[in-house]
Amino acid sequence: MNINELTNYKNDDQVVGLTGWVDSIRDHGGLTFVDLRDFTGSIQLVFDKSGEIDLKLKNEFYISINGLFKKRDKSLVNNKVFLGDSEIEVSELEVISISKTLPFQISNDIDTDENIRLKYRYLDLRREQMKINILTRSNTFKSIRSIMNELNIYEIDTPTLIKSTPEGAKDFLVPSRKSPSSFYALPQSPQMYKQLFMMSGFPNYYQIAKCYRDEDSRKDRQPEFTQLDLEFSDANPSIVKSNIEKIVQYVFSDAYDCKINTPFKSISYIDAMNLYGTDKPDMRIVETLMDISDIFLNTEINFLKDIISSGGVIKALHTDELLSRKQIDSIDTQIKELGSNGLGWFKIENKEISGPLAKILNDNEKNEILKHGSGTLLFQAGELILISQYLDLIRRTIFKPSSDEAYSFIWIEDFPFFENENGNLQPSHHPFTSPKDDEIFKNDPINATALHYDLVLNGVELGSGSQRINKPSIQKIVLEKWGLSQDEIDDRFGWFIEALSYGTPVHAGFAIGIDRLVAEVLNQPSIRDVIPFPKTQSGLDPLTNAPASIDEEILEEYNLKYINRDE
Ligand code: AMO
Repeated sequence: MNINELTNYKNDDQVVGLTGWVDSIRDHGGLTFVDLRDFTGSIQLVFDKSGEIDLKLKNEFYISINGLFKKRDKSLVNNKVFLGDSEIEVSELEVISISKTLPFQISNDIDTDENIRLKYRYLDLRREQMKINILTRSNTFKSIRSIMNELNIYEIDTPTLIKSTPEGAKDFLVPSRKSPSSFYALPQSPQMYKQLFMMSGFPNYYQIAKCYRDEDSRKDRQPEFTQLDLEFSDANPSIVKSNIEKIVQYVFSDAYDCKINTPFKSISYIDAMNLYGTDKPDMRIVETLMDISDIFLNTEINFLKDIISSGGVIKALHTDELLSRKQIDSIDTQIKELGSNGLGWFKIENKEISGPLAKILNDNEKNEILKHGSGTLLFQAGELILISQYLDLIRRTIFKPSSDEAYSFIWIEDFPFFENENGNLQPSHHPFTSPKDDEIFKNDPINATALHYDLVLNGVELGSGSQRINKPSIQKIVLEKWGLSQDEIDDRFGWFIEALSYGTPVHAGFAIGIDRLVAEVLNQPSIRDVIPFPKTQSGLDPLTNAPASIDEEILEEYNLKYINRDE
C-alpha cells in the first residue's frame, strides 16, 4: 500500500504496512517520531524507545514498517501537513537500504548550488517541487496524446541520425564508423522530415520530438529539448493557428486545470516592436512605448538632433512613480550591459522637470514633457531595431504584470523574411518558410514578409511555425538569397528540392517548446527545473560527466584524431 491510501482509513487501530524513505527524525524522551515519505505523501511514525525495536535510522534510509494506524489526539492534530491528524505506532521495522550522508537535505527550500543538484539529480528529484515539475511534464504528454487522438492527428516518428536540418544553431555531429570522414547530424528539429510526410500524402503529423542544438544554454534554452511538432497538409497559417489554440486550450484544461480563452489576439511584428520593443511581449503588462521624437524636432540637444536627422527615433516609457536615483542607476547599468549608451530620463514633480538634460530643454520641449504628468519619463534614442531591446528591458523592469490573467497568449505575425545578423541575411524563421508574396520576395528579399507566426506566452516564445514553400523554384531562390552557392544548394538540399518536385500540397505547421510550456505554467526560474536530467549552462552533465573524452584506439576506429589546440 502507499501513504496516500491511508486517507481512506477512518478508524483507529488498523494494522498497516508501508515502505518509504526516512524524511526526518525527532527525538522526544521516551518516543521517537519519524516522518516516513513515499511517492504519494508522508506520515508520522511513532517508535516507543522502551520497545523491542533497535532504532538506528538516518535520513533517507529506505525502510519497511508494520504498525497500528491511529488518529491523533485532537490537541496534537497538525492541519498544515498531509495526514497531520494521523500517525502509525510502529511494531516492526526493517531497514531495506541505508543511505550515505546526504550532499544536501531533501527539502523544498534548499539553497544548494545547481551543479551539486545536477550531480545528484536522482536525490534532487526526490524533492516535492521537482516531483510536481516532472509529474506536470508527464501529464502534459498525456494530455497532448489525448487531444491529438481526438483531432485525428497521426503520431509518426522521424529519424535522429540524419544529414542536417538548419534551425539557426550549430549541429551536434555523430561520426560514422563505417563511412570514414562522414558524420551524421542530430536533428535541430524534424522540420524536413515532417514536410516529406506531407509530400508522401499524409494529411497531418505530430511527434513529441527530441531536438538538439549546439548553442549557448540560457534559462530558456537547452542543447537537448523537447518539442510538440506538428504539420498539416492543405493548410495555411489560420488553419494551423486554430488547431494550436484547440490543443493549448485542451492541455491547459486537462493537465493544468486552467481555463484559457481562445482565439488568441494577434499583432504584427512591426507593431510588437513599436509598442513593446520586442517580438515576445509580455501582454500582462499594459503599458506601451511612446514615440516622443516629435517633441525634439527643433532640439538643441546635440546627440538627439543627430539621431533624428539620421532617421532614428526617440522612444519613451512613462511611470507615475518618481524613481529613485538608485533605481535609475540600476536600469542604466543593466541596459549598458546589453550595449546601450545609457538611460535618458526626466523626473516630473510639482510641474518641475529634473534630470541630466533638464537644463538644456527649450520651452516647447518642457511643455510637452510636462504633459506626461508627475512621474518619471525614461527614454532611448537611436535606430528602432537597436534600441528596442533596451526599451523592452526597461518596460519589464519598471512595470509589473497587472492583467488578471495568469496566462496571456499572443500571436506575432508578418515577420520580415530575413534578419540581418552582422551583415549576413538569416531567415527569421527557417529557409523552408514561404514568403508572403513570391514576386515581392524575388525582387526585394530584404523587405519581404514571411508566412511565419510565433505564439508568445507571458513574454516567452512558446512556439513557432510557418506555411512552407511547396515549389522547388522558390525553394532554390530562397537558398540562393540566403547566400548559398549552387554547389552548396545541391549538396545540402538537392535531395529535398528533388522531393518537392513531384506534386507537393500546400502545407504548414508549428512546434511548441514543451520545456518552456511546463516551466511557464509552473512559474519555474528555468527550463532546467522541468527537465529530468538537463545540462548545465555550459552544456555539461555533472551526474555522468558527459561529454567525456574518448580513448585514442576508439577514436581510430572512427577514423578520427584529436587535435589539441592549446599545444
Ligand atoms: P523553432 O526553432 O522556433 O521552430 O522552435 C520551436 C520552439 O521550440 C522551442 N525551442 C527551444 N526550447 C528549449 N531549448 C532550445 N534550445 C530551444 N530552441 C527552440 C521554443 C521554440 O519556440 N521547425 C520549426 C517549427 C516549425 O516551423 O514548424 C522550429 O523548430 O519554444
